[in-house]
Amino acid sequence: MKVIGIIGSPRKNGNVDTLVQAVLAGAGEAGHETKKYELNVMQYQGCQACNYCKSHEGACRLKDDLAPLLKDVAEADAVVFGTPIYFVQPSGQFRLMQDRFYSFLKPDFSVTLKPGKKAVVVTSQGNPDPAMFDGVIKGLEKMLGLYGFERPASIKMIAGNSPAAVKERKDLLAHARAAGKAL
Ligand SMILES: Cc1cc2nc3c(=O)[nH]c(=O)nc-3n(C[C@H](O)[C@H](O)[C@H](O)COP(=O)(O)O)c2cc1C
Repeated sequence: MKVIGIIGSPRKNGNVDTLVQAVLAGAGEAGHETKKYELNVMQYQGCQACNYCKSHEGACRLKDDLAPLLKDVAEADAVVFGTPIYFVQPSGQFRLMQDRFYSFLKPDFSVTLKPGKKAVVVTSQGNPDPAMFDGVIKGLEKMLGLYGFERPASIKMIAGNSPAAVKERKDLLAHARAAGKAL
């Protein structure tokens, strides 16, 4: 099984990165092939709405660092979507990547991705209220559902203003590892 991890936080070894790594480590333990993309060190643009993909079998006209990521998502059996909460949304790095999923839609808006891929959603927020950004997570899960992903496991870090805060959350790290192992 091929498992792709996408990290939408600019903080290397921050909360999202650490949790996505834990999910991938669990997946690795289960014998799956894993690969990690750190959006913040990649050069890419948001969707240009040029509709090139609609007349070129889903190929995106932008040949930037997201091209291999999109190819890997198409080939993957499972994808770990990791993002911090920035101003009540996924991060900008993550949002630009998300819009490029437009190339997975045919002109009639049917989805070209093989259905039944698994997903894990990893978020981290500064706010200590666990329910505060449930709407953001639900929005992301809804999008993944429309793209044919199975109902995702979701891993939510709270009070994560320090990049190392998650290191104290042995329970969440164990949960992340178990979610990866269960893929
Ligand atoms: C630009 C920016 C906007 C943020 N907006 C929010 C927010 O709306 N709500 C919140 O709880 N935390 C917010 N935070 C805090 C981050 O979500 C929090 O520090 C998170 O744990 C970072 O995850 P990371 O360590 O993986 O980067 C914001 C941080 C930044 C830098």
